[in-house]
This record gives sequence, C-alpha cells and structure tokens, in this order.
Amino acid sequence: MNTPFPRTAVFQDGRLCSLGGVDVAALAGDFGTPLYVLDRAELVGRMHEWRDAFGPDGTVAYAGKALLVLAVAQLVDAAGLHLDVASAGELHTALRAGFPAERLFLHGNNKSVAELEQAVDAGVGRVVVDSSSELGRLAALADSRGQTVGVLLRVTPGIAAGGHDFIRTGGNDSKFGFSVSAGLAEEAIGRALAAPHLDVHGLHCHLGSQITTPDAFVAAVDIMVEVMARVRDRHGVVLDELNVGGGLAIVYEPADEAPVSVEEHARVLRAALAAACTGCDLPVPRLVVEPGRAIAGPAGVTLYTVGTVKDIPGVRTYAAVDGGLSDNLRPALYGARYTFAPAGPGAPVHRQRPVTVAGKHCESGDVLGRDVALPAGLAEGDLLAVAATGAYGQAMASNYNRLPRPAMVLVGDGEVRLILRRETLDDVLSHDVALDDL
Ligand code: LLP
Repeated sequence: MNTPFPRTAVFQDGRLCSLGGVDVAALAGDFGTPLYVLDRAELVGRMHEWRDAFGPDGTVAYAGKALLVLAVAQLVDAAGLHLDVASAGELHTALRAGFPAERLFLHGNNKSVAELEQAVDAGVGRVVVDSSSELGRLAALADSRGQTVGVLLRVTPGIAAGGHDFIRTGGNDSKFGFSVSAGLAEEAIGRALAAPHLDVHGLHCHLGSQITTPDAFVAAVDIMVEVMARVRDRHGVVLDELNVGGGLAIVYEPADEAPVSVEEHARVLRAALAAACTGCDLPVPRLVVEPGRAIAGPAGVTLYTVGTVKDIPGVRTYAAVDGGLSDNLRPALYGARYTFAPAGPGAPVHRQRPVTVAGKHCESGDVLGRDVALPAGLAEGDLLAVAATGAYGQAMASNYNRLPRPAMVLVGDGEVRLILRRETLDDVLSHDVALDDL
C-alpha cells in the first residue's frame, strides 16, 4: 500500500500529528483553516529526483500550472529546474520570483499579443507555439523587435492518455497544438523554419495527466521522432529538442495503481527515444519533460476543521468542513478521490464509520469525499487532513460564495513559513466597484 501523505508525516494512533516536524494542531491554531500545508522536503526532494533521473542530457521543466506562488518558483529555481508557465500571470509570478527567463517555457493555446510581447521582452527561453495564428503573430512580433525567439511547436500525436476525459489532451480532436495526422504539424514547422526571427529547436507534445504507465509516452516518442525525421528529409533541418510534456500520475488513495517510479519513467523514455532515433538515423535530441502533479501533488496536505456533523438515520452521516470546492475543485470537477485522516487531538480511531465529507458551498456537488472511514466520535472542531492536494488545488481555487481563499504554509525541519497569506473578507471585496449614483 502506498501512503499518499508526505514522507515526513507522523501519525499517532491513526491521527496525523505533524508534517515536516511541525505540529498540525499548532498550524491550524496559528494560521486557521482551511490551510494548505506544503512539505518542503517532499517538494524539493521530488524536484531533485526528477532532475537527477533525467540527468545532464535532459531538461526538467516544472509545470507551474499545478501550483505556482513566489516561494514555489524560488524553490524550482534553486533546484535548477526549468519552469513551464501557461499565462501572463504565471509568467509574471516567475519573473517576480527572479526566475531566469532563459529557463522559462511559455505555453497556452490562445496566447494574447500582450502575453507574447511580455514573453519576448523578458527573453523567455522557449515559446511553445500552439496554433497557426499564434505562429503568424509571434513571427511578426519577433521581426518587429528584430529579436530572435526560441520556439518549439506543440503537436498532437494522436495519442490521448490520462485519468479523466477532461485531462486528455494529445488526441487528434484537441484544442491544443498542430495535428500530426492532419498534416498540420509539418506545414507549421515549414512556416516556422522560414520565419527569420524564429529559432525552431524542436517539438512538444503533452498527452494528458494522471498517466500511470509509460506505454503512451513510448508510442508518442515514436511518432514525434518520425515527424522529426520527415522534417529532416523535407527541410534538411535536424531538430535538437523533444519535449514530451508532463502527465505522470501520483497516488491519491492507498489502493491506487502505483505509477512507475521517476527513475523508471526516465529510463523507459530515454531508451524509447534512443531506439526511435536509431531507427530514423537521427541524432538523439535533448529530452524535455514537464511534470507538475508528480512534483507538487504529494507535497501538499489540506487541513480543515469539521463544523456541522449531520446524521440522517439509515441514509448517511455528513461532516461539513470549512472549505470545499473553492479550495479543491477536483472532486466536483473530475470525481477525484482523496485520502482523509483525522488530525491533531480527537476521538480514537479504532471505532470508525463511513462519513461523507462535504464542503460549505451552496452546491450539493460540493463533496470532498464520499463514505470516508473516519472515527465514529468525529465531532465539531476536529481537524481533518486531506493528502496529495498540492497540485491543482490552490491553483484552481476560487472565491465561490465569496469565500476568502486559504493561506499556504511551507513546513520543514520543524519550521513554518507563510508563503501565501489568507485572503481577508476585504480582499474578496477589493476589486468590486460600487455604484456611486444611487
Ligand atoms: N505540460 C503541459 C503542456 C500541460 O498542459 C500540463 C498539464 C503539464 C505539462 C503538467 O501535467 P502534469 O504533470 O501535472 O500531469 N487540472 C487537472 C490537470 C490539468 C493538466 C493540464 N495540463 C487536474 O486537476 O487533474
């Protein structure tokens, strides 16, 4: 069984006591709940694991869409990784964190002119061109600035993989990238190569997210290398970078199928790339990967306080917590399942009963976990911890029902750092403009 809690998590009698050497009840007391707790050792350890697995011939770009606040961008920089940003906001965060622009990749299926200008002016390492119209816009912008821009072309290899329909992106019917099978990829590469200020380094694909096995990646590598070989044959250009995106799965529940290890993932990808290149008589390009979830996910734990406990005899017991779909949209959006644990002091866990953990939003679908085995004596004021919330939790948070978004703390070696301030009620109001003529 794989525990989805960070390696520093300490349990006593089935209750979560501490994370990163910090007492969780003290965290809740000092910072309030809901609280995103990020385990520094788990987060940084995973960054190093990826960096070391892909080695000096590879590039690991952390996908900031999973979780990006200034402190995370700083840790990514300190670990020597590249960073994938997918919007002006993510790019701005990275630049404000002092992240070196040449290690940034800019993504997005509908980058605005302003986003492209911001990226070109900052000198980002790669713009990952996603569409024909963007190609035209970027080429014109680079020409007008007289500045050469490093680009990759995002292609859809016709393979979609992943844990949910909404997070499968590499198929032909996708809003992302140039389709290989429809011939759009090769046409776009030809155009990009002809643009005087675009420096075409290679190709990019992203198959989907929460993928447990390497098969889809291997199939994609074969197709991508074939495209690279056709580019060589047609244009006489040998592309030197292949970015296969992110997507490696993590464990959310102990019974989940364990994804391959990062070392194995790297070994299989490298072997597939070498074999495909030998087959096409191409030199092996630099292999680039963009893990988001597999780095940030397991490092995050959310702490909630139980409010209302409601027994409907013969039906079910609901325990409502002080957050919900505004701090973790994934259960409502994807039917995602998580692991819950009672935290801090409270009822003994040897007697359990199924409890449905609901959020506090005006929405019946605002349920974080169905029929979770929790202590029979679970009561108002108890703390609940939810594991593996580091990726796509805070990043997808909202102010639904005008709830202030939670704080985030970084814990490690017994120390706590506040890295995201809790929003106040006035923060929530701060962009409203009242009518002044009534
Ligand atoms: N690269 C690109 C171009 C991507 O679009 C993504 C994710 C990644 C890398 C990182 O993928 P990861 O390693 O995190 O699987 N909100 C959804 C996930 C959406 C993923 C979107 N793209 C969720 O909560 O499951």
